[in-house]
Amino acid sequence: MEVLDYLIDSYGRFKRLLVKPCGGVKGEVSISGAKNSALPLLAASLLVEDLTLENFPFLLDTLYALKILKLLGKEVELFPDRKRVRIHGGITSTRVPLELASLFRGSILFLGGLLGAVGRATVSPPGGCPIGSRPIDQHLKFVEHLGGEIGFEGGYISVNLRARAKRGDFTFDLITVTGTENALLTLAGIEGEHTLRNVALEPEVLDLVNFLREVGINVETYGRTMKIEVPPKGKLKRRLTYRVIPDRIEAGTFLVLGGLLGEPLRVKNLNTDHLRVVIEKLTQSGVRVNVLSPSEVEVFRAEALRGIDIETAPYPGFPTDMQAQFMAMLSVARGDSIIVERIFENRFKHAYELRKMGANIAVEGNTALVRGVEGLKGARLKATDLRASASLVIAGLIAKGETVIENIGHLLRGYEGMDKKLRGLGCEVELV
Ligand code: EPU
Repeated sequence: MEVLDYLIDSYGRFKRLLVKPCGGVKGEVSISGAKNSALPLLAASLLVEDLTLENFPFLLDTLYALKILKLLGKEVELFPDRKRVRIHGGITSTRVPLELASLFRGSILFLGGLLGAVGRATVSPPGGCPIGSRPIDQHLKFVEHLGGEIGFEGGYISVNLRARAKRGDFTFDLITVTGTENALLTLAGIEGEHTLRNVALEPEVLDLVNFLREVGINVETYGRTMKIEVPPKGKLKRRLTYRVIPDRIEAGTFLVLGGLLGEPLRVKNLNTDHLRVVIEKLTQSGVRVNVLSPSEVEVFRAEALRGIDIETAPYPGFPTDMQAQFMAMLSVARGDSIIVERIFENRFKHAYELRKMGANIAVEGNTALVRGVEGLKGARLKATDLRASASLVIAGLIAKGETVIENIGHLLRGYEGMDKKLRGLGCEVELV
């Protein structure tokens, strides 16, 4: 069996996570490369002949993406010990198989990658976390605007840009992360000057922008406007090595854990710049966070956590991907907290699981009222999406009694070696 299939199989065989109560976490944890940066960069590997990605996170979503690249004709070499992958060679197919695309949301990025590389793509609506309807109308509106022909057949969407591609000057109706990334990837293949307005500015989007700059494409941002200047293909770099930024959501997850159990906990290899609002909210709720350097912080268990209000928003606002972990923490804070989810319409499923542990959370529409309780108790839970599963792990560690989290595949899709990292800090968790 090939290494890639072996890794996918070895993660895929785990069904649940057993979590024992943890008295405190001590020592240090090193943050992996960002999943949501690695995915657009993997799609961008289609634009060049030979790309090596460093600080690459080996987790299910990125492994699925590598599998797609292989099916598109690319050679893929894995170096897990060195946190590195190399993707090289040409493209022999422009069809992203439905079975793989349906496994993760990031698969939609191959639309932009293929359009940028060869002007044609056949993809299917992506899968991923069930946190709302998650349409891709903006992605398609953009390619239509470029003059792309779009066809629908047998669960697939086919786009052909070649004949009519033109200068891109496009305004998004709403701020979309992968929508902005797909537009950038597509435009990378169209010589000339383009403008994108109302773009997402998440650090992962800007990581792709930096990558494109390395390749030789000039991208300038002015507020939520991006000007993109694409030189003739012959002038672009074809071989390069690029380093993935640290995963701010993994880092934020460990910061929350540290706020509950840190004795203290040292979190290394993060980028504090990307975590400003998360650190601010932790501090507001009574957690002490010592920023030791731009890439290292120390976080202490709070003497008494206070309830706070949170409203998710596009970056630089509070990340929707940190909402569930904060909810777990605030469920044992003193007083009330109000959490408003503004990005996704159905991202409170973890609230019902936390309630099984004794949390007092009322949900109405996109608002949750969390009334702090003394403590949580272990329970049998179900992970409903990626970040929800992280919140349940945190809740399980602070609860009295053992917790079993079913459906743990969600966690493995987005966190690299979470179980090992937790054991390294003294927690008793086991994947089975
Ligand atoms: N939206 C539309 N139409 C579109 C695109 C988006 O209506 O064509 C809506 C969405 O339904 C949502 C909002 O716009 O209500 C924002 O969605 P966005 O497109 O920004 O989300 P995404 O690109 O699908 C990425 C991350 C998510 C993260 C969000 C928001 C990747 C692969 N995924 O999703 O990450 O929550 O941005 O920051 O980058 C995760 O890692 O757990 C995760 C869910």
